[in-house]
Amino acid sequence: LKTIGPVNHARLAIMISGRGSNMKAIMAAAHTPDYPARVTLVISDNLHAPGLETASRAGIPTMAIPRKDFDNKQAHEAAIIRALAQAHTQLIALAGYMRILSPHFVGFYEKRILNIHPSLLPAYKGLDTHERALADGVHEHGCSVHYVDASLDGGEVIGQARVPVCENDTPETLAARVLEQEHQLYPAMVAKIAQHIVEEHINGTQHWKGS
Ligand code: GRF
Repeated sequence: LKTIGPVNHARLAIMISGRGSNMKAIMAAAHTPDYPARVTLVISDNLHAPGLETASRAGIPTMAIPRKDFDNKQAHEAAIIRALAQAHTQLIALAGYMRILSPHFVGFYEKRILNIHPSLLPAYKGLDTHERALADGVHEHGCSVHYVDASLDGGEVIGQARVPVCENDTPETLAARVLEQEHQLYPAMVAKIAQHIVEEHINGTQHWKGS
């Protein structure tokens, strides 16, 4: 593995499709000197994702790689993998990235891709999690950070944060309460995994095949 830059930081790429508030929370955390990751690239599959603007204003290299520019999923993912490799990416955080990654992509970056999902997994995989939680009348809801595998929201859970469901909650008020927790949980879990990568580096036990 080629070492680019200081070994006490993992090189983190964030993949988004939209607003990018989780991306922003990770970027803010990564500004603190002791944080074990640096955001070196933001990729969006959506040219108009507001998060792209946020990242470039913060001086982070950004790339829009829209699916429609490619004949098929394989070619689209190959372009993303090329961009990740060029940035010597060691860790990937999906933050509102709205596509399912293929087994090939996930295999290439095994245990190197994280996602945040707005539910207490394994409950409420997929979309409209807040609506579904309210419809079921659950008393507790929250968010999960998990490793990404080729299933939808299915990889091993790394950490969760819980919030109460209040009597007059709407999907919007519940989403806002969960989102506040997402912005705490995701930077903390990225730091945890990034720290493992840094330690693997230092101990020379890095077997990652992406470089
Ligand atoms: C978040 O609710 C996240 O849990 C889900 O998509 C949403 C992304 O929001 N995966 P943002 O783009 O980070 O603001």
